[in-house]
Amino acid sequence: MEPCEKCPVCNNLCEIVPQMASTFKALGDLTRLQIIHLLSTDTSGTLGVSELAARLKISQPAVSQHLKTLKSEGLVESRREGFFVYYTVNRDRMVEFRGNFELMYASVMDTCHREMVRKATADRPIRACVIYYSYSGVTRRVAEGIHSAGGCDLIEVKTKTPYSSFTAYTKGVLRSRKGALDPIEPAVIDVSGYDLLIIGTPVWAWHPAPAINAAVQALTGCEGKMAVVFTTCSTQPGEALPLLARALEARGVKVMAQISLDQDDTKNPDAGGELLRRIIEADPFRIPGESRKSLHMRT
Ligand SMILES: Cc1cc2nc3c(=O)[nH]c(=O)nc-3n(C[C@H](O)[C@H](O)[C@H](O)COP(=O)(O)O)c2cc1C
Repeated sequence: MEPCEKCPVCNNLCEIVPQMASTFKALGDLTRLQIIHLLSTDTSGTLGVSELAARLKISQPAVSQHLKTLKSEGLVESRREGFFVYYTVNRDRMVEFRGNFELMYASVMDTCHREMVRKATADRPIRACVIYYSYSGVTRRVAEGIHSAGGCDLIEVKTKTPYSSFTAYTKGVLRSRKGALDPIEPAVIDVSGYDLLIIGTPVWAWHPAPAINAAVQALTGCEGKMAVVFTTCSTQPGEALPLLARALEARGVKVMAQISLDQDDTKNPDAGGELLRRIIEADPFRIPGESRKSLHMRT
């Protein structure tokens, strides 16, 4: 589904919500929910109107009427076998409904997350750290730039066995394409004391470097934290940013922004400061509809 042009940030809920309302309406009736329950727990696949009426102790025309409503929403399907018509739950439609509900839930939780961090940081600066891996120094320079401009802590991730220019382009490229985890130091990265994680990696073969994959798995206390991810590359970031974002989301981290820096961006001696200004401008803690308050980093 394409984002619409009307919402400031469209996650397609504008399209989905009206569809959900009519599904909720169909399900918002005790008898219809009981029918769904009976159909979903039935293993024979041979429940018809008369059996449902007998089990629910209501008339057959009443059952037929309820089934018609459920069918019109696509929640129930029927099949004819000779004289009999049997009903089953449309599982694909249920999966779609669950997906839509989860999208709505995530949208609400997203606002709750921001609200919680704003409350917790009302009378203190935001605590941020930059976690990064750098093979040839570019990502390190950006990370250090963020550190000097914003006062966030720096956590450099190093591979236990450093890559040479030969192994980086052979073993390293293969490992990054596989999404492998390199043994790293530090082995555990406790982020429980931070409000915002800024995570940076060079792009290797259009993927995040294996060291940063390992860093994501090494995080502790990361559940519910907010993050901004950035990559540095020559010209082709490929899938590195979405892959890194997905790995973080799987650890319960909310990724608020994904920023790709190419060789022209990283040529700028103030690339780190520039990136921090972009993060502050995007204000990961802003609540939609509320006027923007500045994001104060610890300095
Ligand atoms: C093994 C390896 C693979 C790379 N693959 C890509 C790539 O797929 N796309 C790209 O634009 N740059 C690629 N680059 C270039 C780096 O991503 C880029 O120079 C980056 O800024 C280096 O960051 P670093 O100095 O922090 O390691 C690769 C570099 C190396 C060493």
